[in-house]
Amino acid sequence: MTVTAFYQSLCEQLSGLLSDERDWLANTANASALLFLELPDINWAGFYFLHGDELRLGPFQGKPACTRIPVGAGVCGTAVETSQSQLVEDVHQFPGHIACDAVSASEVVVPLYNGDRCIGVLDIDSPQVARFTEQDLAGIEAFAQILLQHSDLPAG
Ligand code: SME
Repeated sequence: MTVTAFYQSLCEQLSGLLSDERDWLANTANASALLFLELPDINWAGFYFLHGDELRLGPFQGKPACTRIPVGAGVCGTAVETSQSQLVEDVHQFPGHIACDAVSASEVVVPLYNGDRCIGVLDIDSPQVARFTEQDLAGIEAFAQILLQHSDLPAG
């Protein structure tokens, strides 16, 4: 299966899983479970929600993680500050990376929006260097869009 086909299938699974449920907390919880179940070679998948100038831990799968990340700090805080997805091949080369799990080696973070207001991030970690490609990023961004479209979103 190509990477593109994999994410098409994953997005279809997400649409089916969410169905007509629009609760943001329930949907992010199920989305993190689906990602953790289906994506090979990852050790963490989950959400941080934006509260003022800090991110706070939301639903996730994987080891317990740090609960608060200031905007601008780490990979997650950089995604919010720059309004850009972060594709990090080697987290040990990323200045200010926050190591919640020592085995994490690469990471992808996608900022999430309600209109033009950031409401949080989707964060996925892998124990493998350069686990995520631009194709993975495109697939994960499409996954995030489906999640956002299917949910009643916080104001941000
Ligand atoms: N590594 C992230 C922190 C969150 S954990 O990966 C779950 C960062 O640098 O922002």
